[in-house]
Amino acid sequence: MITFTITSKKIGELQADCSVFFLEQDFAFSKDLIDVQKKYFPNLKHFFKLKEFKGTQKSSLLMHACHEKEISHLLFLGLGKPSKGKKIDVENFRRALGVLIRIAEKNKFKNITIKLPAASLFGVPQQYLGKQVATILNMASYHFDTFITQESCKFPHDFDITLCVAQKDKKAITQGLKEGECVAEAVNKARYWIDLPPADLTPMQLADTAKKIAKKRDIKITVFNEKKAEQLGMGGLVAVSKGSERDCALVIMEYKAKRKTAPTLAFVGKGVTFDSGGLSLKPSSAMETMKEDMSGAAAVIAAMDALAHLKPNVNIICVAPLAENLPSGNATMPGDIITFYNGKTAEVKNTDAEGRLILADALSYVEKHYKPDAIVDLATLTGACLYALGPFFCGMMGKHEGLLKKVQKASDVSGDRVWNLPFHDDYKPAIKSTVADISNIGSKKYLAGTVTAGFFLKNFVKDTPWVHLDIAGTAFNVPDISYFRDGATGFGVRLLVELALNWS
Ligand code: BES
Ligand code: ZN
Ligand code: ZN
Repeated sequence: MITFTITSKKIGELQADCSVFFLEQDFAFSKDLIDVQKKYFPNLKHFFKLKEFKGTQKSSLLMHACHEKEISHLLFLGLGKPSKGKKIDVENFRRALGVLIRIAEKNKFKNITIKLPAASLFGVPQQYLGKQVATILNMASYHFDTFITQESCKFPHDFDITLCVAQKDKKAITQGLKEGECVAEAVNKARYWIDLPPADLTPMQLADTAKKIAKKRDIKITVFNEKKAEQLGMGGLVAVSKGSERDCALVIMEYKAKRKTAPTLAFVGKGVTFDSGGLSLKPSSAMETMKEDMSGAAAVIAAMDALAHLKPNVNIICVAPLAENLPSGNATMPGDIITFYNGKTAEVKNTDAEGRLILADALSYVEKHYKPDAIVDLATLTGACLYALGPFFCGMMGKHEGLLKKVQKASDVSGDRVWNLPFHDDYKPAIKSTVADISNIGSKKYLAGTVTAGFFLKNFVKDTPWVHLDIAGTAFNVPDISYFRDGATGFGVRLLVELALNWS
């Protein structure tokens, strides 16, 4: 837990294990630095030169500071230089905040004071800056250590952080911090569910967690099990789940805005709690991280948790089809033909292309019963997306320009990055089948497995504006970004929350 305090006192007047300053590249010697120089280090300017600290992006300089009997630390973090226009990218600030937590962990700092940089440096409002601070510091201090028994091997979780801000900005920053804490809590919840071993997070266990959230937030929830799904004609969900002895679940959560005429957004997330590939078994190296295959479901459920608390002026429906994809004597076989909730049929040529099967039922169910104004789905859908975009951008697909723009904007604001892929009808014939309406894998000739998977899903959304996000690359084990670590990223939570809060 991070405990925040806001003060308009000067950073030099406060006691802490470490005092932190953010500096842009080739910074001028500000009033704060002059104060530091006076109090702790008469030769600070020279020291920066000696250490070649210029404030470049990713750079940091940690030093001891002595004043009378007090010994503490000074930490200088580089923000880099302006890129777009004349402003520094906020992402530089996020990553510097991540570095701050890493350094604090390593040096066992507990009390930290931060001189917040001016929001104008990034061209953003104060409140937004406060929101980033709380979101990122909390995200950076997440660790999945539930199963580590040796206390000495665990990282510290708790920090007391004091933010030094101008008196006039206190209110806006405080408001931003509150929102950021709520978002980070949701992001870290999603990460925790994703990081849990597959035997500790089965479809019904995640459904029960969703039920607890619904109860706490006082929102409606419906959970269908495999039997009910079968009765409803959800052949996709059943086909994936039937190889497993465990039950599957279709979770539907509903947040209602106060305003009767509010528009409705539907968030749909792939929830394969473990993907072995089924009878089209994955090689062991590819299976190693397949507990991550419910990252889409985790994102939509966690986002719902945050939104039911933040209460935007839109209705939100969150749908998460949850199942295990395992081989057994009862598993779906390549060659099987299944019938979905909307009556369409598909030939299952490869049981490892299972995400699209469970999403098909979820998409047509939500469109039919809720008539939402927009649908956004998130899924760790294709390995091909990893090859196309790597771990830093998720693949975005859709045909509705207005919704694509909105998702892009939410991405820019939130920091969950999306990249628009060509969703052109030229790719559509790739999923033709000679024995059913469509095939669950694209023909080899077309390659582009991410886009052809998107076209499979398109069969299950009639005319609602819809955007599909393939998060296979961004959900897990993202390297080099200081506020993540090995394991789940919680990708999508920040984006969905932003999208709903700023919907108009
Ligand atoms: N869950 C996987 C996709 C995936 C791969 C997610 C790597 C995260 C990291 C998905 O169900 C899958 O196996 N897709 C197949 C589709 C193919 C059989 C058409 C794939 O990408 O190989
Ligand atoms: Zn698969
Ligand atoms: Zn999968």
